[in-house]
Amino acid sequence: MIILGIETSCDETSASLVHGQAGKVKILSHVIASQITTHVKYGGVVPEVAARQHVIKIIPVLDSTLKQAKVKPKNIDVIAVTRGPGLITSLRVGTQTAKSLSFAWNKKIVGVNHMEGHIYANWHDHPNTKFPVLCLVVSGGHTELILMTGHGQYQLIGRTRDDAAGEAFDKVAKILQIGYPGGPMIQKLAAQGNPSKFSFPRPMLDQDNYDFSFSGLKTSVQYFIKKEFAGKKVPVNDICAGFQQAVIDVLSEKTISASKKLKVKNIMLAGGVAANSALRNHLDKRINKELPGTGYLVPPLSLCTDNAGMIAVAGYHRATQKDFTPWPKLAADPNWELI
Ligand SMILES: Nc1ncnc2c1ncn2[C@@H]1O[C@H](COP(=O)(O)OP(=O)(O)OP(=O)(O)O)[C@@H](O)[C@H]1O
Ligand SMILES: [Mg+2]
Repeated sequence: MIILGIETSCDETSASLVHGQAGKVKILSHVIASQITTHVKYGGVVPEVAARQHVIKIIPVLDSTLKQAKVKPKNIDVIAVTRGPGLITSLRVGTQTAKSLSFAWNKKIVGVNHMEGHIYANWHDHPNTKFPVLCLVVSGGHTELILMTGHGQYQLIGRTRDDAAGEAFDKVAKILQIGYPGGPMIQKLAAQGNPSKFSFPRPMLDQDNYDFSFSGLKTSVQYFIKKEFAGKKVPVNDICAGFQQAVIDVLSEKTISASKKLKVKNIMLAGGVAANSALRNHLDKRINKELPGTGYLVPPLSLCTDNAGMIAVAGYHRATQKDFTPWPKLAADPNWELI
């Protein structure tokens, strides 16, 4: 089965062609047109600007995706498109494009949940993953612990009560004036800093649940800088390292304790923050030590932040269940909850 994936939920215009067979998926082509340089001057994504950029880029991106894979429209079996959650005007560009192509080429459509896409990025490298799986979903808008008992079967175990982990990285980077998006920059500077030099709070670790909170941590970084370094040179690397370690400690502790309780076979990372190498390594060490025998899966780096490859992989699994939507009924849903 050949699937064309389309993703436009935020500020990346992306398309990908994949070939799926017997549970395994191979990426044939993958194009991502990033708008970061457009939004960087605002310190975050401006929805109206993002939607206009999608309109400009979607057809050239699709054209390159088809050419790179040397696939003709007649060979495509299914179009998989992000239907939500995301920015409504951005989502509409992708869904309207998918509807038009479905009508013109007479193809079936799968409407994919963006968060399911992040999770299914893992199935690219790990097609035979055994359930139950505990997914730590850490992105710009979400921080959730999700139990998967089978394909498409989700239970919410815990979630952030305020900011998402990626949002905290972005806000702390803004406070430190080191650029947008914050995650990759903080990771880079933290690698040159001492994570024990300054100690920031580990929110909600004292509570007997699997929820998170990152808003107070961001504020404590802000007040710490104001109090200790007003008018002085800010030790950016050590602050990045201390903040990043606080986030990693909380995410890891909750993930490990939920995995012990739920007796899962695999632990999985998903979302943009899953690209963070310090988080990947820390969890790897803890799982090896505290949960020997439990599998630990991470998505390929190229499928962590928003991309259409992950949407096509999720779309393949939905298509094998015949979860199609006729094009007149396909509608973008900015608040579509996975669970
Ligand atoms: N290496 C990294 N370390 C930490 N955070 C990172 C890294 N790379 C990217 N991020 C963060 O990941 C986020 C982007 O991820 P993603 O694209 O999945 O988010 P989103 O699509 O905006 O949100 P959502 O998927 O919840 O709708 C940003 O907040 C970014 O700072
Ligand atoms: Mg995302």
